[in-house]
Amino acid sequence: MSLTENINKDNLPKHLAIIMDGNGRWAKQKGMLRAFGHEKGTKSVRVVVEECAKLGIENLTLYAFSTENWNRPKLEVDTLMKLLISSLKGELKTLQNNDIRLNSIGNLDNLPASVKKELTEVIAKTKDNKRMTLTLALSYGSREEIITAVKNISDKVKNNIISTTDIDESIINQHLYTHNLPDVDLVIRTSGEHRISNFLLWQIAYAEFYFTDVLWPDFREKDLYDAIISYQKRERRFGKTSEQIK
Ligand code: FPP
Repeated sequence: MSLTENINKDNLPKHLAIIMDGNGRWAKQKGMLRAFGHEKGTKSVRVVVEECAKLGIENLTLYAFSTENWNRPKLEVDTLMKLLISSLKGELKTLQNNDIRLNSIGNLDNLPASVKKELTEVIAKTKDNKRMTLTLALSYGSREEIITAVKNISDKVKNNIISTTDIDESIINQHLYTHNLPDVDLVIRTSGEHRISNFLLWQIAYAEFYFTDVLWPDFREKDLYDAIISYQKRERRFGKTSEQIK
């Protein structure tokens, strides 16, 4: 029996967002440096990206580096930046072969020029791909995103481009880094932590959550299917009663 047999292809999350956690603990359990955990985590990234595209998930967003992650030891930050560059260089072919468009959210100006250059190149080369949008949250913090949106909207009000009465959910959405993405349907967080950690606070308003104890470097196809099957068993009411949505 195929493992995907229990997945209903007509009820997939349109936007899946993943907080990839536990790389450090995975390495520590093996008596290795944290960097080794991050390196192994890139394999899980490849597996999940390919599998989501195969299943038909249209939008996948991965929390790869938060605004708070800049406070980690310099050696670890450098390792993560190097891994990003090598993954971007190495995975361009995978993105093209699977018709995946790369996108990014976050304050990219804080990234090293080498990362920004590689990222911009891969985004440009994959811009016409249609099957799935893979968004990397890099130097991303949801509060920073909201502050930036508020500043930009305020400037428009000040310059009479819009009026305060025009401000609604749609205007806010248009000013977020995620303006071209739908709301998040499902958030997965690995490693047993039950936190949101400043990730897509506006966009998860009606998202379902799936927490697993699996550490990110161990996360494989079966773990992804379990999360999706759990999501498909939920009744999403969006504030309505059960009777109203039946
Ligand atoms: C969390 O584990 C993971 C990260 C901070 C970074 C995730 C990065 C990767 C998987 C590698 C590169 C990414 C891409 C997109 C190619 P942690 O260090 O917080 O683990 P811990 O909580 O066990 O310490």
